[in-house]
This record gives sequence, structure tokens and C-alpha cells, in this order.
Amino acid sequence: MKHYEFIESALIHGGIYGDERTGAVSTPIYQTSTFMQDELGKHRGYEYSRTGNPTREALEALIAELESGEAGFAFASGMAAITAALSLFQNGDRIVISSNVYGGTFRVLDQIFRHFGFAYTIADTTDLKALEASITPDVKAVLVESPANPLLTVTDLAAAAEIAHRHDALLIVDNTFMTPYLQRPLELGADIVLHSATKYLGGHSDVIAGLAVVKTKKLAERLHFIQNATGGILQPFDSYLLIRSIKTLGVRMDRHVENAEALAKLLRDHEAVKTVYYPGLPDAQGFEINGRQAKNGGAMISFELNEGYDIRRFFQNLRLIALAESLGGVESLVCHPASMTHASIPKEIRQKVGITDGLIRLSVGIENLRDLIQDLRMSVEGAKV
Ligand SMILES: Cc1ncc(COP(=O)(O)O)c(C=O)c1O
Repeated sequence: MKHYEFIESALIHGGIYGDERTGAVSTPIYQTSTFMQDELGKHRGYEYSRTGNPTREALEALIAELESGEAGFAFASGMAAITAALSLFQNGDRIVISSNVYGGTFRVLDQIFRHFGFAYTIADTTDLKALEASITPDVKAVLVESPANPLLTVTDLAAAAEIAHRHDALLIVDNTFMTPYLQRPLELGADIVLHSATKYLGGHSDVIAGLAVVKTKKLAERLHFIQNATGGILQPFDSYLLIRSIKTLGVRMDRHVENAEALAKLLRDHEAVKTVYYPGLPDAQGFEINGRQAKNGGAMISFELNEGYDIRRFFQNLRLIALAESLGGVESLVCHPASMTHASIPKEIRQKVGITDGLIRLSVGIENLRDLIQDLRMSVEGAKV
């Protein structure tokens, strides 16, 4: 029986809390590949760690609880989780993906799954009519990010689920940017939630990991089969690190968002900045929908500088905020999507969906806001040519 009601407590006490045998309050790391069997055909619930490991299971139960799902699965990376979820489909099936998804999601579909006869269609899922029109009879799933990477566009998840289901397709949501602390897509009608746990769930830029959560027993059975058959599992130590990090997710996210809201306003009001993309700003695309389906706008901001400002200089000027791939760590990071995270998307497609060469993506960390303001302001102003 649960002795708590709220997600802040679930982050700490959810899943399989501590260790029943010894009373240890933190989850033990079962650093073992195999398990002794008592006799032929009789084991104690574990046989081999690819199939099941108690530390990984504690994490999987935790993420399932946080996302209100039937079962969770932990993988060696976000891409391994996405690959496992896409392995639910087969030759002749098609998936609709939103027009700005993480470059790696596009790449695995375009350069691996397509070769096995699993096709994709790119659609602007923020426009529900465009989503509906993109669904042909072979579509078996719709995969969206909301807010999406890197333009932070918002898709109405409940409406997208309704459209997908009406066409007998699944809705898959990559919830990396929001985390279950800010948004729970399964509660809005989605069937599968994916995470690059490398980001906010890990939170300290020291682990590569992926998670998947499914809504039904049928999907759980199939995804467990795929996880075991393909083997891209998360290791026990990394599972432990994620459980440890998730305990502080709520306090970290509150601070990430507080800083992001202030920086988004600063950028919006700055003369050097042409456009700001942040779903927490009232004039942002999807502000109201995001407000309905998520706790707030999260902590990712993208922006473009005005003519007369040089983005190379901007990146060079930064002293505190690091130029690096990835996001969601305690430290603030910036990246240049066109040449970094989204370089695997062909330039014509990038330009069509608005990922310009001048776009800058900022993952706002939990440093002191005044230090972040100082670094950002100096770097933007010093970029004037
Ligand atoms: C939204 C999103 N999904 C998936 C991934 C892939 O995750 P990983 O790098 O952990 O494989 C990323 C990585 O940047 C991402 O931003």
C-alpha cells in the first residue's frame, strides 16, 4: 500500500523502495550477470541479467509508476529505448513523426528501419488537420515530442491520441524534455512514453540511459520480449544512478524552470534577439495547450540572434554556459542544432521545418540565475559585429 499521494513523494518512494531483506533505504546494486538456480527449472525470479536484474527492475517499476504506466523498461540509451519501441512494428508498416523530432530519431528511421521496409511520414503534428491528413491505412503509430526538439513546438497530446486511435494507430510520446514531473502523456491517452534518461532524469550529465513505459499488458509483454531479444539493457550501476537522481528530480526541475522562465523573458526583450522559442511565454505557439497538458514550459529555450550578430562569436563569448551536445543536466549547456543535434537531418528538411543555421538551443541549468544572466547577456551583446 502506498503511503503518499503526490509525485514529489513518488520520486523518492516509488517503484521498489530500498531493500526488503536488509532494510537498506537505498536500492542495492546487483552487479551480477547471472543467478544461481536452486534446481533444474527452479529459480528465485531471476536467471540472467539481460532478462531481468533487481536493480534495473526497481528503476523500471519506478518509471512505470511515475508515468502511470503498466510497465517500464530501461535501456542503454535513449536511442536504444526508441529502437526497441520501433521494433514493435514490421515490414509494410508506417509511422508518422512530428516535423521536429530529435535528429537521432529521424536517423534511425531513415537509415535503419526504412531499409527493413518500415516507412515514415513527416507531419506537422502541431496542426491536427495536417496530422489527420498524414494518416494513411498503413500507419501503425504516431511519434511526437511535445515540446519538440529543438523548436519547442507543442502538440495537443490528447487530441493526437484520439486521432491516432481512431485510425488504429498507437501514440508514442518522447517525454524527454518534460519528464513525468511536468507532463504524463499516458494520462492524456498516449500508449508508449519514451525518455532519453540521459537528460533530466539522470540530471547530472554522467549517464547515458533510456526508458520506455507502456500502457497495456500486451505492449509490456511484447516490449519485454524485444528488450530481452535485442539486449540493449541498462546496467545495474547506471540503473542505481538513475534511481538516485530521480529522487531529486522535483527540486531540480523547479529550479531549472524558474531560471528558464527568467532567461526566456530576458531574451524576448533583448534587442539582439530576433526570435525566442519557449512554450512558457504567453505568445509562444501552443502556450495554452502546453498549459493544459503540462505543469509549465520546461527549461529548454531556443532562439535566433538578429542580423548584425555573429553566432560564432556568441558561442566563443560564453564563460559559464558550456557549448555541448545534450541537455537536462544541472549545468547550463548551449548547442547549435543545425551542426550538432540535428545535423543528421538533411539541410532541405531542416530548413523546411525551421531549424535554421542561426538557431541556438539553450538547456537552462540550476546555477544562480544572476550568473546565468551575466554570461548570457555579455555573450549576446559581445556577438555584435
Ligand atoms: C528528445 C530526445 N530523444 C532521444 C534522444 C536520444 O537519447 P540518447 O542520447 O540517450 O540516446 C535525445 C538525445 O539528445 C533527445 O534529445
